[in-house]
Amino acid sequence: MIANWKMHKTVEESRAFARELVRRMSRSAPSTQLIICPTALSLWAVGQELIGSRVMLGGQNLDLGREGAFTGAVSGYLLHEAGAKWVIVGHSERRQYFGESDSLVSQKVAQAWESHLRPIVCVGESLNDYREARTISVITRQIEALFKETSREALRNIIVAYEPIWAIGTGEVPQPSQANDVAALIREILAQKIPDDRDDVPVLYGGSVSSKNIHQFLSQPHIDGALVGGASLHVEEFLKMADIAPYENTNQEQ
Ligand code: PGA
Repeated sequence: MIANWKMHKTVEESRAFARELVRRMSRSAPSTQLIICPTALSLWAVGQELIGSRVMLGGQNLDLGREGAFTGAVSGYLLHEAGAKWVIVGHSERRQYFGESDSLVSQKVAQAWESHLRPIVCVGESLNDYREARTISVITRQIEALFKETSREALRNIIVAYEPIWAIGTGEVPQPSQANDVAALIREILAQKIPDDRDDVPVLYGGSVSSKNIHQFLSQPHIDGALVGGASLHVEEFLKMADIAPYENTNQEQ
């Protein structure tokens, strides 16, 4: 299960959450693999709290390049140095508000891999696309675009999160079986491109996941976990969800 905190929580609040999580986890010992993605500014502080725990750290975005005159940019190398093992790439909010194209997303996936980070790649259709039955073509385009700039080796080591844009932060969710069908489609496309690796790329669902509905998604055969925004901001809710999520096959250190 992945927590995407977006632009929430101060450094102190992030640190307090991590401390509380680690303390409570050692008692309840959930078997779920957990990744927390705080703001870039809180990565280091949260990472310090997570040392020795099974919770991993992820960034929410990276910029291209290693270092240089790019005012305001944060490279994958810096995220990695701050303790991140993972990074979210291509979240719909990045695509929508920061103009990230399929091509840039693919370049970022390659850059993440080069920076020793494993990418969590988000794909998903808009409400319009959903209504006009274009989900399959949008997802196919987004997944196929990844192969333009990124090596197959890197793509073997990603997580894909299917996040319908209309479900993010809205309280609306697709039928779990519909989300499962899209997850199956993602597996199918990856299998065609990386024939020997069909089941190794975990596929998650994201969009208005909470402790009330997570089990409906996780009980689907093609959905391995959840990418959670709003509901991941509360430690109680986070622990509830983590106890529900079954352990899956994402524990491959680079
Ligand atoms: P949400 O966000 O759980 O608040 O809908 C999910 C996401 O954007 O990753």
